[in-house]
Amino acid sequence: MTGVERELALEIVRVTEMAALACARWMGRGRKYEADEAATTAMRRMFDTVQMDGTVVIGEGEMDEAPMLYIGERLGTGVPPAVDVAVDPLEGTNILAKGLWNAMSVVAVAPRGTLLHAPDMYMEKIAVGPRAKGKVQLDAPVADNLRAVAEATGKDVQDVVAVILDRPRHARLIEEVRRAGARIKLISDGDVAAALNTAFSDTGVDILLGSGGAPEGVLAAAALMCLGGDMQARLLPENEEQRQRCYAMGIRDVNQVLTLQDLIRGDDVIFAATGVTDGELLKGVRFTGQSRATTHSLVMRAKTGTVRFVETVHDLSRKPVPLPPDPPAPGWPEANSV
Ligand code: FBP
Repeated sequence: MTGVERELALEIVRVTEMAALACARWMGRGRKYEADEAATTAMRRMFDTVQMDGTVVIGEGEMDEAPMLYIGERLGTGVPPAVDVAVDPLEGTNILAKGLWNAMSVVAVAPRGTLLHAPDMYMEKIAVGPRAKGKVQLDAPVADNLRAVAEATGKDVQDVVAVILDRPRHARLIEEVRRAGARIKLISDGDVAAALNTAFSDTGVDILLGSGGAPEGVLAAAALMCLGGDMQARLLPENEEQRQRCYAMGIRDVNQVLTLQDLIRGDDVIFAATGVTDGELLKGVRFTGQSRATTHSLVMRAKTGTVRFVETVHDLSRKPVPLPPDPPAPGWPEANSV
């Protein structure tokens, strides 16, 4: 395969748009599973129209636990290019269920064999935008990394903003960042958006720290490779079974610090994201009446460094594949999933 074709980028953003449109009507309804299913169904249908020979390497789960977009599933029309596909039809299921910030639909596509096959477990991450590329190390003291980001961005440490998932496991990390004098943005969910935001200075965040999902880590790495940012990571298997899953996926040293090039081998990755709810970077889906909706997306290609923001007006009655059913009308049962 000679490279991920340019046209594929625009095809891929159509896929994330459809997934975002499908789940956005579930916003604030407290039903994260239903929302995720709507996004997954729409994304799966749309992939059937894309000219590629794709294999899911980051998906909704293993074949026996996910009906669609499972790891190993073939996607696309089956013609070249042969590609690895990483998907998260709804990144931030709880965010959407509560109507909070930064739920997105996300896809990365790269030549076959170049995306890390990350098992569904935790991953320790450090991510920064282009200005701090090469300046931070996963294993360096937190204060050193914050100082390095401050220097690289021309700020004082107290003006550096670290994004961290608000979890008890991060108590010590939060303490260290505070002791170093930097500011913190604690988020309830959504560390792909957080990593992405480090590469755009007007989002107001400089560095992502802490652990989150490994699949999300590969998607974030794809985005940062397109943007010239940087990331390091380490898988965090919690038991022997998870360690065995790493080995089965070809990861020999589970304690290894994974660089951006270990996460994404080569430089030919495409990343697309469509906002589902509003975020610092992307607007969420707007239903504007008369069967119309607007979406706001980002699509990028590492090989060329092109970063495109795409605003699209959709006529929902004329979509190439049917959208899954909307949530039930008034009178639907109480929320039960968040
Ligand atoms: P979902 O979309 O699967 O709900 O994941 C949201 C998320 O916040 C990710 O962005 C993050 O990597 C992961 O969950 C963190 O996991 P945990 O909630 O277990 O800390």
